[in-house]
Amino acid sequence: MTAPTFPVGPSFGAPAGRAAVITGVGGYVPPTVVTNDDLVARLDTSDEWIRTRTGIASRHVVTPGTATSDLAVEAGRRALKSAQDSQVDAVVLATTTPDHPCPATAPAVAARLGLGGVPAFDVAAVCTGFLYALAAGAGFIACGLANRVLVVAADAFTTIIDPNDRSTAVIFADGAGAVVLRAGTADEPGALGSVVLGSDGELSDLIAVPAGGSRQRSSGVRPQPGDEFFQMAGRATYRHAVERMTAASLRSLADTGWRPEDVDRFAAHQANARILGAVAERLGIGWERQLSNIEHVGNTGGASIPLLLDQSAADGSLTAGDRLLLTAFGGGLAWGAATLTWPEL
Ligand code: UT7
Repeated sequence: MTAPTFPVGPSFGAPAGRAAVITGVGGYVPPTVVTNDDLVARLDTSDEWIRTRTGIASRHVVTPGTATSDLAVEAGRRALKSAQDSQVDAVVLATTTPDHPCPATAPAVAARLGLGGVPAFDVAAVCTGFLYALAAGAGFIACGLANRVLVVAADAFTTIIDPNDRSTAVIFADGAGAVVLRAGTADEPGALGSVVLGSDGELSDLIAVPAGGSRQRSSGVRPQPGDEFFQMAGRATYRHAVERMTAASLRSLADTGWRPEDVDRFAAHQANARILGAVAERLGIGWERQLSNIEHVGNTGGASIPLLLDQSAADGSLTAGDRLLLTAFGGGLAWGAATLTWPEL
């Protein structure tokens, strides 16, 4: 493996004596299912193209009136239940589809979960949002700002997708996942190991919703048709996704003192089955060690990893003691990786 041509980003470990430990996990997908055949009925595409190019067969979507906070509250509630906790000291929500441009969605989620006046804020890192939010939550714990943090990642991604854009409409879907963190020690199961995060804003145009922000509003120019929707340069994104998730994973493994063969389970952002396969192949992690749910949930943006962890823990493909490697990549560009040993939940 040749050295990456970009800075992978800093790597963080827990400070001596105070680590963030996962004590609960939860996930939620809205009940409405859209199959490939449903999409074929209204788009110039085919079940065969979608399955072979993305690995997706069906996905869950919100119906009108359902917002990101609705998904986040349900996932958060389930994570708190799993942690046998009813109170935390902070809520961090990763999302690309906040309920409103202003204010942040996290305070509403905290209020609806009955968490009182705890600090609650959003993190915007698109498909890497969960790893950034996890790092933020772990940071609150590491510096003593909190002893318990609810980290949620939720996206109603289909609300920003152009329903007529076949290159994105077949991939993106809706869902939420959450974990509860508490202060503990680095040698405990569930303790976050190395966390690697990076970004490259030179390539911010590869994945964007061009309209709706201060750039377009301040210009006073009406947005071009379609600019209110999510746009992605698929091919280029694909290449960067493979390179950056591989590099971040290798850095995280090296910092943890693990080799790829030490990894029991690999949980990558479910961007596209071919991307996941390419990253795993470069890392030397066989398919039997890869966790995947993309076939039935699609690409749920930031929610992807915690939703995968929740579903994998529920179906038994992820069990206590598994050495786990997480990695994600998306708009920003932003990417990351992290290691941990899965706890008994
Ligand atoms: O989650 C955050 C980051 N996102 C990602 O990592 C996603 C990265 N990219 C991808 O997953 C893939 O690039 C896509 C799934 C978006 C596209 O797959 P691809 O194999 O890279 O296809 P392509 O963009 O190179 O397009 C190949 C052909 C094109 O037709 P021509 O120009 O060769 O005639 C597209 O117009 O496939 C066409 N195409 C479709 N055909 C049928 C694009 N979308 C579709 C579709 N059905 N849904």
